[in-house]
Amino acid sequence: MPGIKDAKCVLVLGATSGIGRALALAIHDLDSKPTVIVSGRRQERLDELASHGERIKTARVDINTSEDNLKKFVTDTVSNYPDLDAVIFSSGIQHIFDFTKPDTIDFNKFQDEISTNYISIFKLIVLFLPHLLKLSDKGRPSFVVPITSGLSIVPSATVPDYSATKAALHSLSITLRLQLAKTNVQVIEILPPLVESELHDHQGKTPVLSKVWMPLKEFTEHAMAGLIRGDPNIPVGTASQDFNHFEKGKQEAAQKFYERMLSMSST
Ligand SMILES: NC(=O)c1ccc[n+]([C@@H]2O[C@H](COP(=O)([O-])OP(=O)(O)OC[C@H]3O[C@@H](n4cnc5c(N)ncnc54)[C@H](OP(=O)(O)O)[C@@H]3O)[C@@H](O)[C@H]2O)c1
Repeated sequence: MPGIKDAKCVLVLGATSGIGRALALAIHDLDSKPTVIVSGRRQERLDELASHGERIKTARVDINTSEDNLKKFVTDTVSNYPDLDAVIFSSGIQHIFDFTKPDTIDFNKFQDEISTNYISIFKLIVLFLPHLLKLSDKGRPSFVVPITSGLSIVPSATVPDYSATKAALHSLSITLRLQLAKTNVQVIEILPPLVESELHDHQGKTPVLSKVWMPLKEFTEHAMAGLIRGDPNIPVGTASQDFNHFEKGKQEAAQKFYERMLSMSST
């Protein structure tokens, strides 16, 4: 099975901290010596990452932006790095919403969360696909790697919109993989449990969550093992328990449903 060890050039969106940063550095350290393009909004963090090695390149972007800006980002990236053959979507934000206090729910935060965690990722996948499909026609494998969450399977009531965005991205990962099954584009979904990162800092929850989260190093080892093997789904820790319990048969059912739809439309 092709895995990330076969990639020549990997773009990591959301590489300025947490999971994205750890994966970017671990991929950079692979024996295959890929180029790693690190991306995010904070330039000083990108510059710090670039100091880790010559094969680390930077491409600053705010993915929560206009379609034209996203198109320009993708066009520039592909023309600067024609060998680009893997895109990891680690960018994400999380907000707490309390429906018992509706007046505290900020629609701007709600929209930012949907846009960052789902809409922009959907658009970027669509914009990168022509390039990846061209590689596929030449027989080269490529990788689309959405990072969802255990909360895409079992939602957390404290972060209802976040859970919904992750469920949407999880569903997209399944359908994308089914449609691309006859190409060389591999869709690899990583489903993390609660992991050490900066995701919860702005909520003031980090001191409590740090007592129970999975250390970043441990998570990265699991995620890298799955990426190297090319596992289509990489659930880790508690997300793995939820995946085994609630997702059994779901992806096979989606495949049967898709095949039925295809056979109906071909008759
Ligand atoms: N940590 C967990 O417990 C956990 C659990 C399950 C799933 N996840 C998922 O794992 C992924 C990584 O999260 P993390 O825990 O590593 O969080 P993190 O440390 O907060 O990292 C989030 C990354 O997303 C980037 N980002 C946010 N908004 C962006 C935007 N508009 N444009 C470009 N980049 C943006 C940030 O970079 P800039 O601020 O520099 O732009 C940062 O690099 C996320 O998708 C998250 O939902 C995390």
